[in-house]
Amino acid sequence: MSAQPARIQRPLPPKPRFAGRRAQPLIIRLSHWINIPLIVIMAGSGLQILAAYPSFGQRGALYKWYPFQGDAPPSWLRFGGWLAGARHWHFAIAWFLVLNGVIYLAYAIATGEWRRRVFLPRRDATNAFRMFTYYLRLRKTPPPEDFYNGLQRLAYTSAILFAIVIVLSGLAIYKPIQLYWLAALFGGYDGARVVHFACLVLLTLFALNHIVLVALHPRTLVAMVTGGKRG
Ligand code: HEM
Ligand code: HEM
Repeated sequence: MSAQPARIQRPLPPKPRFAGRRAQPLIIRLSHWINIPLIVIMAGSGLQILAAYPSFGQRGALYKWYPFQGDAPPSWLRFGGWLAGARHWHFAIAWFLVLNGVIYLAYAIATGEWRRRVFLPRRDATNAFRMFTYYLRLRKTPPPEDFYNGLQRLAYTSAILFAIVIVLSGLAIYKPIQLYWLAALFGGYDGARVVHFACLVLLTLFALNHIVLVALHPRTLVAMVTGGKRG
């Protein structure tokens, strides 16, 4: 018998995780675009609610650090007509916002999409810092990008966290007795109001920045509408 030369079994190279998948799958696109009118109505109706008592802290013990005590937000930012109308809108749309968010998160987790979207400090922190210095024109070339750069991941992950916190603090001020433990997590009812409002400010800053950056990179907008090429 002739000895057969031992055949070396080379493992096949691993198939890229997102091969054949669009950059922006349908569920992500749908939940992103549906989110925008929902969040605009929530912000407008929230500001109308705020106008009924445009102060933070209890009557007679207002928080000193808040510079706009007693100043109602401008009427063009408000939605819902009056306090009761705005509360109806706020509490009705809140459930759709939560549902949309749950679908987005469940999809991202179930398909592993989160891996290329979520900011993971070990992977993304240096890249985010380099991208930031590139935008400040302190670096000439942008750092390498895989799907998103570190700064994009940081921005998107923060926006999702702000959204989760705005929902939790909203639930705390919606049912402060039944959900007393949730309110306690935010330092009580007044604390939860402050956190709820602070998240609105942070989400607004994110959205303004986000829209400018999208306008500077219009190809990302095409992908967020059409889905983009398959990987
Ligand atoms: C599940 C989601 C949410 C729930 C359950 C919720 C609930 C509430 C509740 C209970 C109030 C106080 C209403 C009152 O005392 O009459 C409130 C106020 C407010 N909400 Fe929300 N909210 C949610 C999401 C949002 C979002 C997404 C935004 C903005 C983008 C927002 C912005 C505001 C603002 C600005 C106020 C007025 C602050 C105040 O006067 O306390 N809320 N929300
Ligand atoms: C007119 C308004 C908006 C436009 C034109 C827009 C456009 C886009 C585009 C083109 C992308 C893909 C970006 C990329 O490839 O880097 C994106 C992603 C994203 N946008 Fe917006 N956006 C808008 C408003 C908002 C708002 C209001 C929020 C949240 C408050 C938001 C949250 C996000 C998040 C979290 C992502 C990342 C999604 C993921 O990778 O799973 N956007 N947006």
